[in-house]
Amino acid sequence: MKKLTFFLLVILLLEITISDDSKNPALLKFVLQWPPTFCMNLNNDAKQPGRCQEPILQHNLTLHGVWPADQDGISITCCTKPPYPNWDQLFTPTVENQLMAFWPPLRENSQKRDLWMHEWKAHGACGGTTAQVYFNTAIRINNMLQKGNLFNYLKTSGIIACNSLSFAKKDIVDAIRKVFVVTPPSPPLDVYLTCIPIDSRNRTHVYLKEVTLCTNLGGTSFISCPSKSAPKSCSTGATIMLPHPKPQP
Ligand SMILES: *[C@@H]1O[C@H](CO)[C@@H](O)[C@H](O)[C@H]1NC(C)=O
Ligand SMILES: *[C@@H]1O[C@H](CO)[C@@H](O)[C@H](O)[C@H]1NC(C)=O
Repeated sequence: MKKLTFFLLVILLLEITISDDSKNPALLKFVLQWPPTFCMNLNNDAKQPGRCQEPILQHNLTLHGVWPADQDGISITCCTKPPYPNWDQLFTPTVENQLMAFWPPLRENSQKRDLWMHEWKAHGACGGTTAQVYFNTAIRINNMLQKGNLFNYLKTSGIIACNSLSFAKKDIVDAIRKVFVVTPPSPPLDVYLTCIPIDSRNRTHVYLKEVTLCTNLGGTSFISCPSKSAPKSCSTGATIMLPHPKPQP
């Protein structure tokens, strides 16, 4: 009888492990940030305020990170991680130059590798690839933006950083969709936008914080970001602004 109980327990555990398969990486989120909003957030951080390097970038969206996610678009977290790679071998001058063009560190006193290593440890290492594949994939996805930086797609649609202009979420999404050069009959791909409030009173305007594009796991083609975990912070009805950098404390 005891043996049987043990046997059943094993089966139960197996079941749990198998049903956990839905938490396997199914796609990549390519998360781009608007540097002036990032820096404002950093300056105003209640727990640990920080500063950005000056001058604060305001002509490009820069990469926050590449985040492996499950089929619902939820970022994968993991407890067991592969051993750290040999960073000096990985970040050759060529790779560093390629990464710096779209994935620069924004924080003051931050070394150029800090953000990359952090993103690998927090996200990349949970995606089931090596660090080398992870960073090459980031470079490959960035190269799929044919106009260079994503901000160029916004600019050519009239979405610019200006303290007297704000835009409907739909207009921003439509501008971003021009990235996906797909044959017309396919349905438009979804992207994620996140926003932050301007201040505690303002209900009519919000600041754009991040834009997320989704790709297949190999980072070779864009796919729709799953609607299930679409962020709500830009969907309040407020119009969206791309702020200029604010003076830092
Ligand atoms: C902005 O992005 C473009 C294209 O990716 C790049 O060539 C340029 O160096 C970037 N500019 C800055 C200031 O980072
Ligand atoms: C909200 O922010 C916008 C843009 O800065 C400004 O024009 C508007 O007056 C603000 N509204 C309130 C209630 O502060």
